[in-house]
Amino acid sequence: MKRIIVGQSGGPTAVINSSIVGVYQKAKELGIEKVYGMVYGIEGFLDENIIDLDDYLADDNNIELLKRTPSAFLGSCRYKLPPFAEAKEVYKKIFKILEKNDIDGFFYIGGNDSMDTVKMLSDYAKENNKKQVFMGIPKTIDNDLSITDHCPGYGSAAKYIATSIKEIIRDNASFGVKKPTVCIVEIMGRHAGWLTAAAALAKDDTCEGVDAIYLPEIPFDIDKFVKKIEKLATEKKSIVIAVSEGIVNKDGNFICEIGAGEKKVDAFGHKQLSGCAKTLADIIASKTGLKTRAIELSTLQRSATHIASLTDIEEAINVGAVAVEGANNGKTGMMVVMEREKTKNYKINYQLYDIHSIANVERKVPREWICTKHNKMKDPFLKYVTPLIKGELIPIYKDGTPVHLVRK
Ligand code: F6P
Repeated sequence: MKRIIVGQSGGPTAVINSSIVGVYQKAKELGIEKVYGMVYGIEGFLDENIIDLDDYLADDNNIELLKRTPSAFLGSCRYKLPPFAEAKEVYKKIFKILEKNDIDGFFYIGGNDSMDTVKMLSDYAKENNKKQVFMGIPKTIDNDLSITDHCPGYGSAAKYIATSIKEIIRDNASFGVKKPTVCIVEIMGRHAGWLTAAAALAKDDTCEGVDAIYLPEIPFDIDKFVKKIEKLATEKKSIVIAVSEGIVNKDGNFICEIGAGEKKVDAFGHKQLSGCAKTLADIIASKTGLKTRAIELSTLQRSATHIASLTDIEEAINVGAVAVEGANNGKTGMMVVMEREKTKNYKINYQLYDIHSIANVERKVPREWICTKHNKMKDPFLKYVTPLIKGELIPIYKDGTPVHLVRK
């Protein structure tokens, strides 16, 4: 490969920029002449919104800053490539821009929707004898990509959630009043409960942990929930509950839509899920008279680079580097997957996997890891998640707040 381009797509993570670092550094090591960045993913690429990453990353200090920068440094998009038969001109335009800039390697950092773009473009290239190669680099706080053990971005979001919930539990327990405050924390993750399950990490010798965890994998029963809170209120001075934004009732309806009307959908047909903590807090307040509080962690959980997991940062760099290495060896239409060794000490091996088995597929939390009786996570989940949140990379501070690398 002589010239390559990297883009970011979908919801950002705390370490999505570390994958740019991995792509850039590996490309330089392999003597690749140019590394471009597409601004606002494939959507920006279609407008030829391209930058030369040397302008930022030739300076090692900026590499260090980029590892500590939240959000998508290049900008992101939620753009669904139309099927070839419906929009030949879109594909022609993409390849025209690639050819014009002499780009032969295309790297896309994203989740299952973004892998659809890699799939479509690599299929088109193969069918039309194009020389360009297309590689997927995994990222998502949702941790719902198939085949891979886990996804870069998840460990850092899980670390933020565990840390914040420990702090919330301390706060909620401050008042020695007779009746407890019920605090409901809403966590992202769409239709998979991986991230909400990470609330289970907020438990150790100094912290009692959350009182219940509700995942989208298990139908949510409001009456049972109210009864559970009523019982807890007779036993405890503080109640903290973790709920996924995507919890649904037995009929498959989102709890966050109760009384709020239908939610808007994005290009991939996903509803913007938010508000279930508030809905549940209002129901509890009116049915029990208890004081309630709803906390929606929202974008904080995917942008908290100040408390990112070092393991996650290193893995995000590695998946970027492995994608470039693979593409340089002629691979295309694949995504980097992480395989955990079955040894005592945590170790990850990196492989490439056919994008067709990954694009648009959602991986859920295994049922056997969920204790539905007590609404808690079982030990195998804790064993799975604990290594992913280990280690810290201290931010670079100026005047008391962390500094970031920003596009000019
Ligand atoms: O896909 C990642 C994610 O953070 C989901 O957890 C969440 O539902 C969604 O993005 C929110 O998307 P947006 O920021 O576009 O509303």
